Amino acid sequence: MKTVILIIFTSIFLSACSPSVQEPTTGTTPEVPKASAQQAVAMPDTFSADAAMQVLKDGGNAVDAAITAQFVLAVTLPEAGNLGGGGFMTISMDGSPDFLDYREMAPASAHRDMYLDEEGNVKFIESLFGAKASGIPGTVAGMWEAHKKYGTLPWSRLVAPAVELAEQGFIVPDKLANNIQWYMGRLQERGLESNFGDYFGSAVAGERFFQPELANTLKSIQQQGPAGFYEGIVANKIVAFMEANGGLITLEDLKAYNAVWRAPLTLSWNDYTLVTAPPPSSGGVAVAQWIGMLDVYAESHELPEHNSAEYLHIMSEIGKRVFADRAEYLGDPDFVDVPVSQLVNHDYIAMRAGEIQQDSPSSTPDIEPGLVESEDTTHFSVMDKWGNAVANTTTINLTFGAGVVVTGAGFLLNDEMDDFSAKPGVPNFFGAVGGDANAIQPYKRMLSSMTPTLVTDDKGVVLVTGSPGGTTIISSVTQSLLNGLLFEFDANTAVNAPRFHHQLLPENTIRMHDGFDENVVSTLEGMGYVIDNRRFGDVHLIKRTPEGLDAASEASGRGKSIVLDAVETE
Ligand code: GLY
Repeated sequence: MKTVILIIFTSIFLSACSPSVQEPTTGTTPEVPKASAQQAVAMPDTFSADAAMQVLKDGGNAVDAAITAQFVLAVTLPEAGNLGGGGFMTISMDGSPDFLDYREMAPASAHRDMYLDEEGNVKFIESLFGAKASGIPGTVAGMWEAHKKYGTLPWSRLVAPAVELAEQGFIVPDKLANNIQWYMGRLQERGLESNFGDYFGSAVAGERFFQPELANTLKSIQQQGPAGFYEGIVANKIVAFMEANGGLITLEDLKAYNAVWRAPLTLSWNDYTLVTAPPPSSGGVAVAQWIGMLDVYAESHELPEHNSAEYLHIMSEIGKRVFADRAEYLGDPDFVDVPVSQLVNHDYIAMRAGEIQQDSPSSTPDIEPGLVESEDTTHFSVMDKWGNAVANTTTINLTFGAGVVVTGAGFLLNDEMDDFSAKPGVPNFFGAVGGDANAIQPYKRMLSSMTPTLVTDDKGVVLVTGSPGGTTIISSVTQSLLNGLLFEFDANTAVNAPRFHHQLLPENTIRMHDGFDENVVSTLEGMGYVIDNRRFGDVHLIKRTPEGLDAASEASGRGKSIVLDAVETE
């Protein structure tokens, strides 16, 4: 097996850990002259795949295609695609890495204890459902920033496919119809009042589904850019909905929202450079630690066979430590000092790897942070014929977000406030705990696990990956990277090989896809692990191989990947 070496470029990390806000520049045609023979998309549904590929065929670049995909998914994948949420976009353009943070922000009147009752207990339903669960949406501002800096086709052209799908309708896939029915049942079971059924109840598998209010909102965005969402009629509808339903977002909050360009987290691994998500994502730091500790382990042991009991155990031992650090140190870098360079420092990672117990799970309560002193969401990957790439992960948090639609505007709100730590030590929906670093503050961005990631080598971008799944995103991204580049699987195997996840809490529990060897499962149970069989993730990955681009979307989802020969560009 190839040895894995993680070398941290200190200077790059130092720039990464003090977030830089770069002024967006006007979009220009990329200067990279020589086109590769191919372009590829790996998307979570067929509508976004076809629309994004058409943008590439029309001469758009990877960012143009990503903007179109983002808006199309707001129409055709309402479980996670959105106007009412946010996300992260990792970019390689003309060989330069970049990162756009369009994560939601807490409203101005949000405060640390806003989800606690008189006894100090967390009122989970309020951070997960309804208007009060929503952070200020970032998607429209994010796409506008991406377009200003890198877009080449007109904004209105890029939003057009979404307008058309909302106005003219689209044929509802079985999986969407099933998810809507499941969600309406869940709302009923829990006695939650929502207008969700008014907007989505008429969606029937195999039949055309129209969203006229959403179409009008998209037209407003198409014609006016962010002013068509954060000001005027749409903004007034958002605020009216908030006022009628106990939400906090005001007109001032909408005007105050800004998407931020940050230095991506960039690290050297083998002959590759990983370009991934900095805080307020926890994902890039976590992937660096996970891969780094596996590397240190493999220096003194044979690298465990892929998906063997030893591999799952060692990766789970690492996961315990990754998530202990996440809980303590990670938060919005505009509000707290996140010690990124220390957390990914080679000596620190080697010290943490030295704590790994080879034969049995470490006791969970003993794992402290190491420095001294339905989840849903969706992801897509794009590579254009110039070799530019986008990894974009976007979310409204849980499936169908806060479960309520802005009346008259036709889009679902996020329930991202649950990604804050409502109370130190009390797990959120994803079982993640946190403390001061991720406490609620006005205009702060809640910690995320979204980890859109690119890998480059001396010839350019070699892999683009990402996944939904809350905290399991970190495992899906780590394992898809290892599958594609360490175990050298093709794209299809890299996304469909069974994956696993361990995150400190619940104690000694490994979440596993079906498909593992029975002996692996029984060996892990014999070691004291509890197996949780709930599936997670939906990886969309593009890999450059000597034969050309290879793209795949995970088979369990409703994704579609396309690789197409491109006409040579001078
Ligand atoms: N809402 C899930 C995440 O951002 O990690």
